This record gives sequence, structure tokens and C-alpha cells, in this order.
Amino acid sequence: MPLLPLARMSAILTCPRCKAILVASESRLRCASFDCDYSSPEGFPQVDQWPVLVDFTTSVLDLDAMIATRAQSVLPRGRRRRLIERFKDALFAPNSVAGDNFERVKCELPQGDRSRVLIVGGGRVGNGAEVLYDDEMIDLIAFDIYGSPSVQFIADGHQIPLADGSVDAVVIQAVLEHVLDPARVVAEIHRVLSPDGIVYAETPFLQQVHEGPYDFSRYTESGHRYLFRKFSLLDSGIIGGPGTQLLWTIDHVARGVFRSRVAGAVAKAFFFWVRGLDRLCAYPYAVDCASGCYFLGRRSEREMTPREIIRHYKGAQRSRSPA
Ligand SMILES: C[S@@+](CC[C@H](N)C(=O)[O-])C[C@H]1O[C@@H](n2cnc3c(N)ncnc32)[C@H](O)[C@@H]1O
Ligand SMILES: [Zn+2]
Repeated sequence: MPLLPLARMSAILTCPRCKAILVASESRLRCASFDCDYSSPEGFPQVDQWPVLVDFTTSVLDLDAMIATRAQSVLPRGRRRRLIERFKDALFAPNSVAGDNFERVKCELPQGDRSRVLIVGGGRVGNGAEVLYDDEMIDLIAFDIYGSPSVQFIADGHQIPLADGSVDAVVIQAVLEHVLDPARVVAEIHRVLSPDGIVYAETPFLQQVHEGPYDFSRYTESGHRYLFRKFSLLDSGIIGGPGTQLLWTIDHVARGVFRSRVAGAVAKAFFFWVRGLDRLCAYPYAVDCASGCYFLGRRSEREMTPREIIRHYKGAQRSRSPA
């Protein structure tokens, strides 16, 4: 996995609590500000190969649990599950839009020089994101709330332990629904981006709860765009239309009726063709009934106004325009 080695990012690592720089002492990182609790010699914990740059006093994460599980995910994400997911992806092709969007992210990066791209929630490589990992001109930084081979450190998106303006792009794919305060995470993304930095986000609209207790929000296409109101629009749209979301519903209704995840998987396999309805639906109708949405934007100091977000609406339920 071609991630930027930790040693080469020491100049931009900061304390999640006070944003002071970090210094290495013995085998740990600690905060350089003597006013901060994390400046003590213990500094931030190290669990296996991952520094844990989390302020546990404000995070949903629990230090004892992290040490007990050796920083592994509290949700099942074993090898077998990954294989099942690959099979499901091949059968249901969940996200055909992402690949094109990641190519656009690459086009928007500063040309001719190396770029720094941060992946928030990168414990698993997301759909289509391989093109970023395969690009030799990109220095990838990735973190998640658990340790995996595709992250350099553990952190919480509410307090990103990176310096202001330190990255050229941020990717946050299928993560904002899992954070308690999405607006705060977006503010952190805005902070760590360079002045013309790029953000790419994908977030569900009509999807059932996944990741159990760690699932909190959903966004319409307009709501998602407004969440990124301090970014100028490069592109936004939907991922998966009414057919995709209907298939999710079939899966979860079958789980509920038969009290079994397997029943859901069987129902989904039986009704796989329902996804094809996405192609039959006109785009504005699909916007009102999509499975998820994406936003590609450029960091800006100007904030979108409430009236602009009303004009942004791309769905089929047009309001009467003023005379
Ligand atoms: C549905 S998975 C998506 C993973 C990957 N981005 C993808 O597209 O396949 C959601 C991810 O968000 C991570 N996550 C949840 N809360 C987070 C937080 N506060 N900060 C950073 N990542 C978080 C989870 O651990 C998980 O890896
Ligand atoms: Zn500090």
C-alpha cells in the first residue's frame, strides 16, 4: 500500500486537542505545547504500529477498548467479509460513478508537482479509490478510527491531527453518516486543505442503518451540497438511483421478516435485477429517491447563501418560480 511514511509527515502532524505540533519522544508522539495534557512523556498511545492521535476526552472512541482489541475495528471487517464484499460488488456494481469522480479529483490537483491527498476513514480502500493509491505523484495520508494496513495513524475526523492548509485534497467516502457531528468534520476538512484544495465526499441518502451504533445521518443531494457551503461547486450528483435504494430496502425487509441477515442476502440475490430500474428513471426523479450523493468542490472563503441552495435543487419537484 503506497502510503506516505509517517516519518515524512512529521512536520504536519498536530495535536488533535490544541493543534500544536507533535514531537517524538522515545517511541511515542507527544504535544509540543506544555499547556496541553498530551505534552506529558506518555503523550499519545501507540497501539501496534499505529500512533493513536485521538483526544479521548471528546471522542466516541475508548482507549481501554482500543488497547484491548489492539486497535482493530469493533465491527466485523475480517478477511472473509472482504471476500464476500468483493463478490457482492462484482454482482451488484454498487458505485459506477466513483471511478470517474476520482479521475476528476486527480485532474483538479496541482499539476507538475507531487500532491498530498488525505483519506478520512480510509481503513478500507473505497470503491474506485484505487486510482489514487496507484498514482506515484500522490503522497497519500490516511487515517481511520481503527488500525489497518491502509492507514498510517488512528484519529477521529472531528479533530484531524494535521496542520492548517497541509493537504491538497481530502477524500471522505461513506464516512460522514458515521460521525456524530458532520458539520464539524467538514470544518476540519476545510481547515487542513490548502487555499485552493479539493474535497470529494460521498454520503448516503436513502440507505438503511449500517455499521450498527456508529450510524447517525443521511443527506439529500441539496443537504449534502449545503453541508459543504464553504466550498465552490465543481460537481455534485447522486450515486445509485431508486433501484439501488429499493434493493437495500428489500434486503432489510427480508432481514426483519425472517430475523436473519442471510435472508436479506438471499432476497437481494433474488431481486438483483431491481437495480436495473436506476437506468429507467429520469435523473431529476432519481435525485429525489437516490441511494447516495457525492460532492466535488474547491475550498473557498465565501459561504453559499440559503437562497443559492434553493436554486441548487436538481430534483423533479420544482417550486413555482417567482414572477
Ligand atoms: C462504511 S465505512 C467506509 C470505508 C471506506 N471509506 C469505503 O468507502 O469503503 C465507514 C468508515 O468510517 C470510519 N469512521 C467512522 N467514524 C469515524 C470518525 N469519527 N473519524 C474517521 N473515520 C471514521 C469507520 O471506521 C469506517 O472505516
Ligand atoms: Zn496539545
